[in-house]
Amino acid sequence: MDAIRIKGGVPLKGTVRISGAKNAALPILCATLLSDGASKLRNVPKLRDIDTTAALLRFLGRDVSVDAPEVHVAAGSTVRPEAPYELVKQMRASVLVLGPLVARFGRAKVSLPGGCQIGARPIDQHLKGLEAMGCTIRLERGYVIAEGPNGGGRLKGAEVVFDLPTVTGTENLMMAAALAKGRTTLVNCAREPEVEELGRILNKMGAEVDGAGTDVMHIRGSDRGELAPFDHAIIPDRIEAGTYMVAAAATMGDVTLEGAELRDLEVLVVKMRQAGVEIASEGMNVRVRRTGPLKPVNVTTSPHPGFPTDMQAQFLMLMCLAKGESVISETIFENRFMHVPELQRMGATVALRGNTAVVQGVDKLYGASVMATDLRASASLVIAGLVTEEETEVRRVYHLDRGYERIEDKLGRLGATVQRVKNAEA
Ligand code: EPZ
Repeated sequence: MDAIRIKGGVPLKGTVRISGAKNAALPILCATLLSDGASKLRNVPKLRDIDTTAALLRFLGRDVSVDAPEVHVAAGSTVRPEAPYELVKQMRASVLVLGPLVARFGRAKVSLPGGCQIGARPIDQHLKGLEAMGCTIRLERGYVIAEGPNGGGRLKGAEVVFDLPTVTGTENLMMAAALAKGRTTLVNCAREPEVEELGRILNKMGAEVDGAGTDVMHIRGSDRGELAPFDHAIIPDRIEAGTYMVAAAATMGDVTLEGAELRDLEVLVVKMRQAGVEIASEGMNVRVRRTGPLKPVNVTTSPHPGFPTDMQAQFLMLMCLAKGESVISETIFENRFMHVPELQRMGATVALRGNTAVVQGVDKLYGASVMATDLRASASLVIAGLVTEEETEVRRVYHLDRGYERIEDKLGRLGATVQRVKNAEA
């Protein structure tokens, strides 16, 4: 397994290009199952999760070519509406093929994603919504077996109320409703920008989606049996942008993010400004600087437009440098503080109490060999390594490669001393 070795203590300076959003590209790639035509996705990041999704689509019978930042998808010669455990266990978002498969082909067999490091990650809301649309759902040997009405017929529009906002749950039902008969109403939807982007794509494909990005959506399914292909450039990755904003602030740097959309990061921007970070929009770019001490700021994660859980680990790391006490509460996932023990080994002072972390800022962090556990925890450890003047080695960086395109190259261009060590644990 590879590691990343960092020699920190240098303020990041310069310009970094923000890549396309991973969590927009994944559902949109799955939406191509709703059409047999040739679809083109542009501004797609070169990430492991994109490659995993491409492999899954090929297994389902699609012709897929990945030539980042473009991905082309079209129907192949076969259709096999089955997502095997070997692929789904690599990436939970594989569950996003469930809605389009059962809507388009009347049946689907998809491995249950199982839990992951950050939590149990159930999909009960996905399944409840599909059942409301006429699906029969069976759980068999770790697989979800879904079948349309009357042994594989067309789904029908329904009114679905989510018990809690779920991003991929909302996305799965949007895609199912896009070919269902009649009108579907989804209530208490996730409002993330990536959900809104999927709504744009489905409308480009000929579905009628109204309200994507809000908590209530009305969708009229197309009666043509399939949707049209599309050509679309993916929105920028707000979490990648937020991660580089924190890295710039943590190292007292001065970084311009090219292609970042501040409007998708309002809460993070407000909290970082409260902490003493200067953030300014410059056309299509965002400039982040820190010249003075960091102030402690409390944060509680919540569904969009609240503070994103995917930025919690990075922001907690920033608060390890603030002058005073910060309280960070994680309300979305039950086990998303795995970066804390690793940060403590680098000298951070953090007390964990259930889903709350109480951070006491320190003057100095120390280099160490640390272990990455999940995508965003890994990013917080890399940022900690950029801060300390000593050497830090972050192991198992395959977690990072799932969500951060060419991270060592991008950090290197900002003046960081970062190198990838192949097979570090051999
Ligand atoms: C999406 O995951 C993102 N992944 C996650 O990003 C992100 O952390 C998460 O949304 C929250 O914003 C993608 O978009 C591919 P949820 P998702 O369903 O959809 C509970 C990253 O770092 N829940 O919104 O799986 C669930 O347990 C990844 O890029 C149910 O109880 O998250 C959680 O507590 C990590 N039943 C809460 O809802 C369900 O049926 C929110 O989960 C579904 C979810």
